[in-house]
Amino acid sequence: MIRTWHLGDRHQSLVLACRNAGLPEVVYWGPALPESENLQVLAKAAVMDVTGGMVDENAPISLNPEASRTFPGQTGLSARDAAGKVLAPRFSFQSEERAGNELSLVYSDESCGLSLRFDLSLTEATSLFKLKAQLQSQEDIVVDWLAAPVLPVPAYADEMIEFSGRWCSEFLTNRLPFAPGARVRDNRTGRTDHAHFPGLIVCNPTTSNTAGEAFAFHYGWSGGHRMVAEELADGRRQVQFGHAFASLPTGTLFATAPLYATYSADGLNGAAVRFQRHVRSQIVKDARTPRPVHYNCWEAVYFDHKLDELKAIADRAAELGAERFVLDDGWFGKRDDDTSSLGDWTIDPSKYPDGLTPLIDHITSLGMEFGIWYEPEMVNEDSGLYRAHPDWILGPEDQTRGRQQLVLDMAREDVRKYLFDQMSAVLGNHAVGYVKWDHNRVLPVVDAPQTEGVYALIDQLRRAFPHVEFESCSSGGGRIDFGILERTQRVWLSDSNDALERQRIQHDAALFLPASVTGSHVGPRHCHTSGRVIGMSMRAWTAAQRHLGFEMDPRELTDDEARMLKAVTDWWKANRDWLMQADILRLDTIDPAIIAEIQVAETGDRFAAFAALTRPSDQILPHPIRLTGLDPDAVYKITLTNRDETPGLSRGAPLLKYQDLTVSGRYLMSHGLTLPWRFPETICVIEGQRLPN
Ligand code: GLA
Repeated sequence: MIRTWHLGDRHQSLVLACRNAGLPEVVYWGPALPESENLQVLAKAAVMDVTGGMVDENAPISLNPEASRTFPGQTGLSARDAAGKVLAPRFSFQSEERAGNELSLVYSDESCGLSLRFDLSLTEATSLFKLKAQLQSQEDIVVDWLAAPVLPVPAYADEMIEFSGRWCSEFLTNRLPFAPGARVRDNRTGRTDHAHFPGLIVCNPTTSNTAGEAFAFHYGWSGGHRMVAEELADGRRQVQFGHAFASLPTGTLFATAPLYATYSADGLNGAAVRFQRHVRSQIVKDARTPRPVHYNCWEAVYFDHKLDELKAIADRAAELGAERFVLDDGWFGKRDDDTSSLGDWTIDPSKYPDGLTPLIDHITSLGMEFGIWYEPEMVNEDSGLYRAHPDWILGPEDQTRGRQQLVLDMAREDVRKYLFDQMSAVLGNHAVGYVKWDHNRVLPVVDAPQTEGVYALIDQLRRAFPHVEFESCSSGGGRIDFGILERTQRVWLSDSNDALERQRIQHDAALFLPASVTGSHVGPRHCHTSGRVIGMSMRAWTAAQRHLGFEMDPRELTDDEARMLKAVTDWWKANRDWLMQADILRLDTIDPAIIAEIQVAETGDRFAAFAALTRPSDQILPHPIRLTGLDPDAVYKITLTNRDETPGLSRGAPLLKYQDLTVSGRYLMSHGLTLPWRFPETICVIEGQRLPN
């Protein structure tokens, strides 16, 4: 007997089949199938041949490939009983629950006391699958590896795009071919990490931003994770994601985080837009609208907090258009540098003799909301907390320190209670609307309960202070994933405020992240992390492509810089209602010096496009930039918003330099827009309005 199930919407279909009560396998994943498709036939038609030198039946790439079926690749489970004996279950069907596009399947193997449950759903509003696995054991066991439901990817999708990165350069993409064997990423940092964003896109060599097929994955977990993208010796391919190897404690219940997955027939953008929409509508909760313009004082004052200076900075930030003032590191304990005080979350009386209220009152009187920095999971040895509770740390005493700090064991209830009480004393007694939650080192051990503990603490604080928004920061973008985004409303994408670096990071992060959660700040003229000097237009427009903020000492701006920043901020405020809900579509450009994107309103009636020239082009003439995501039959009015910045060296007469133009979506997407010549390290901002038919 073959059981079959079909989850699908108008974009994609996923067909599962279970033969002889064995674990289900995906027999089809791709474009939406017709209602009339006979699933029994698909299940039978998917069976592949066997020839010499093989076992007599191909073990399926089931939702959890089993060693007991002679599976020739990485299995979905690696477990041992209390005596250390390897468990090799052979699961069989127990029950199913089905409601629309939600399906739960329960399997068990009585002989070893295990049951395995799969929860699979497709969110139709965003066309994203959410897939979870849960293993239950009658006895205590050790589970080194439990994969979230395993998906096959077809042999015709021959390449994978995966992610690496570093501090100040998050979301680096690597495009590599599949080859026999497994590509394994085991992120053992205990956090999502700059170098290991848990994402993967499987596609063809010809898949571009705007065209071609893509199968995209994201594992929504903030601890370490493991990814396996494997080509079996027989040519079949599988993708597995789960918690980092051996990071689960001994016990009887083991669950994966959700694996999000989607098939796109519309290039990388098709998948990117689904992830972005899913974050906006399903993952992030209680985000303030309109998104307020940030001011963050870190790169202005660092640890040197002086009330009068901060007030003067706040005055200037408010004049420029800031609506939220975030007091960064340095307000607590005796935190004059990064060697002490983490853990002592009481206001420093030498910097704030009358507490924080005078500063907060000043900020709120300017119409801004007050936000504050914390790094709750961390402790310095030079702190009252460490002196009182040296046993609260995670990992061995002689571990290597990171930024001179240790990590608290967040699985301990007393640790969480201490942090909750300390934070509540500040949040509960002051007008605080925002917490920037930092995490500045990797963990000494890979340990899932640490992440569960952090989630529990944030959840508790969110319940106690529902009006407070949280931002996830981890030396910039070291903790960005859908797990943390379920409990925060913004991420600090990178410590790099260098607009050129930001262009690249933002562009690649948009494969998963919408603008509304992606913090982007206008930094100091002389960038503190790259040493570059970049003009205000480039800096301001780059930040205006995401959730805008400022992070320089605003008193140092020249009049021209202030005027430009104010103008861009006004533009952003006038447009943010639709921009923060827009789809970000990455544009394919023939000139590798250009990073370009279009942000299309949900209603489709307007858009903004940004084309940043990050370095001098190899060719002398700017080539037309082809847009995407528009209605080919509609007519659009196109404006070059910052045409007044065109330099004198642009000597010709491209129309957009002088006037708006009215053209069809077809023209914009096939011929593209001819832009004026300009200097490197500058940006063109283009606005489009759909005209009534
Ligand atoms: C990290 C963050 C910065 C800043 C500092 C404060 O590096 O990424 O934005 O908050 O910590 O110490």
